[in-house]
Amino acid sequence: MRHLIEPTDLTREEIEQIVALGEDIIANRAKYSEACKGKKLATLFYEPSTRTRLSFTSAMMELGGNVLGFSSASSSSVTKGETVADTVRVISCFADIIAMRHFKEGAPLVASQYATIPVINAGDGSHAHPTQTLTDLLTIKREKGRLDNLTIGFCGDLKFGRTVHSLIKALARYENVKVILISPEELRLPDYMLQEMQENSKLSFREVRTMEEVMPELDVLYMTRVQKERFLDDDEFERVKNSFVLDPGKLLTAKKDMIILHPLPRVNEITREVDSDPRAAYFRQVENGKFVRMALILTLLKWAEEQKAEGAAPRYAEEYEVNGHECHNHSCISRTEDVDQLFRREKDGSFRCAYCETKAR
Ligand code: CP
Repeated sequence: MRHLIEPTDLTREEIEQIVALGEDIIANRAKYSEACKGKKLATLFYEPSTRTRLSFTSAMMELGGNVLGFSSASSSSVTKGETVADTVRVISCFADIIAMRHFKEGAPLVASQYATIPVINAGDGSHAHPTQTLTDLLTIKREKGRLDNLTIGFCGDLKFGRTVHSLIKALARYENVKVILISPEELRLPDYMLQEMQENSKLSFREVRTMEEVMPELDVLYMTRVQKERFLDDDEFERVKNSFVLDPGKLLTAKKDMIILHPLPRVNEITREVDSDPRAAYFRQVENGKFVRMALILTLLKWAEEQKAEGAAPRYAEEYEVNGHECHNHSCISRTEDVDQLFRREKDGSFRCAYCETKAR
């Protein structure tokens, strides 16, 4: 069974097929209006969402399918102690495909181990958000006409920003992409991501402390919110919360065809005056999210039909091992649910948790 747990679950070619299908859906909406007739999407959202949950809902409706689910953990049987594993076994009896958002990193991977239907990660803690990545790629493709030969500045909370982590992983397959990481020291990209970029990726990258110093170079400026809900220390949040504010003055040195992206929601990191700048693409980006999710639902359901015939083995069985280590990341699902402690062996002989990618000590 194919799932989408992180962007690297898709090859570059598969990503491009889904992006192209998204573009076809935009151009020929009526053609797809009954494509999922009789199918059901379960939206299991254990953490708040506006865009992702409602765009999945809207996507399935536009495909002629139905949607069921819950929008908060408090309205599900998790309040009685039900595990992710048991929940998705149950949901597999009711639906054809699952979109799951969870505050614990790795929860969708656990779900994919027990569900008998495709599971889509709709955001897990600070870890990954692959459908936002597909949204971002479709937006860059439509706005810039290409996914290679780009200089992209990621600005703000790069530590907890799961959309940044996932987009960087996806871009690592493209040619001549330069990444500029703009953050305060406290909100730098996690070590595992920096290591991966150094060792495994085609990307060139550098870290800077202000957006002003790199603005003229950028083709894409990807702004992010400082994620208050992920901080363990309120004082640290107060110190960094106003680190970066994009206003019209800062855009004076930007290219005329640069685009500004933001996964949203925003707080104060982009002022309202920027919204009327034609380079502000973040509301167009939201709309693209629905079309690319339509494309993803269609693709995963098609693959599920094909694989039913083939009887494919679970993906994690080949990639991960149980080796006596335990994950020490307090936000990892393996700390709170009774799951196999799975680790992936790295090229340097170290191990990384399968659920949250934290390095084993
Ligand atoms: N971009 C995004 O994930 O937004 P929501 O949290 O509203 O789903």
